[in-house]
Amino acid sequence: MRMKKKRHGSERLSLLSSLIVENPATLVENLESVYGNNKPLRIEIGCGKGDFVRGKSVQESDYNYLAIEKIADVCVLATEKYATSRSLGNLAPNGGWQTPDGTIYPLGADSVPMTLEEMGNVRFAVGDASELLKDLPDNSVDAIYVNFCDPWGKKGHAKRRLTHINFLNMYSRILVKGGKFHFKTDNRDLFDFSLEEVEKSPFLLEYKTYDLHASDMNDVNIQTEYERNFTEKGFKINMLIAKNEK
Ligand SMILES: C[S@@+](CC[C@H](N)C(=O)[O-])C[C@H]1O[C@@H](n2cnc3c(N)ncnc32)[C@H](O)[C@@H]1O
Repeated sequence: MRMKKKRHGSERLSLLSSLIVENPATLVENLESVYGNNKPLRIEIGCGKGDFVRGKSVQESDYNYLAIEKIADVCVLATEKYATSRSLGNLAPNGGWQTPDGTIYPLGADSVPMTLEEMGNVRFAVGDASELLKDLPDNSVDAIYVNFCDPWGKKGHAKRRLTHINFLNMYSRILVKGGKFHFKTDNRDLFDFSLEEVEKSPFLLEYKTYDLHASDMNDVNIQTEYERNFTEKGFKINMLIAKNEK
């Protein structure tokens, strides 16, 4: 996702730091203190501006969600949009964060106070998923979502794809047995590559479509920002769901 550098991005993010998880590796043993419950954990990798995780967390609310985004200036937007959707406030007119009672927390102030109930079931983490997820315990995650990841089309770049077998093996390790991997993309080459990688992996393909919006899954589909853009341009959306059979 290309993005101009956000003014005061890191200060904006630190105002909402209650919604940020610094170390996902320890999240699983701290679900109660982070989310206020021990519901199963689901992870979205490369959440962009967070439309998907916001929608999913409401549609399937009996789970905790962690949305990972490697670009801090993108994660700021996702976190702010989520906080606004939870009625936790808005960007203040001259910078900082304004809570619904009118209090303004200026840039540089301490984190805006929030209760666990107000924060709901989504948290965000900034960083590269391969780093952030590598130390998660085995069998600790209920589902993993990857939506419209970078296709890394150049020769020699296949290992960077978030559906490369190395990533699938890591997902399999941290997912519970029977946990699901969900993947959407407009890119047919990447989709075909991903199907081949699933074939080699501990996952069993459960569902695939080359035209999600014409499929029986469309009713429950939560669109992402990229999905809306590509659909408007006439691209069909591919989706697969694979079950962890390790
Ligand atoms: C093409 S955008 C798609 C955003 C969103 N998922 C959507 O569908 O609208 C891919 C996003 O994934 C992020 N990303 C790519 N590789 C990542 C990685 N290894 N770890 C975390 N985020 C990653 C990028 O920074 C970018 O915001």
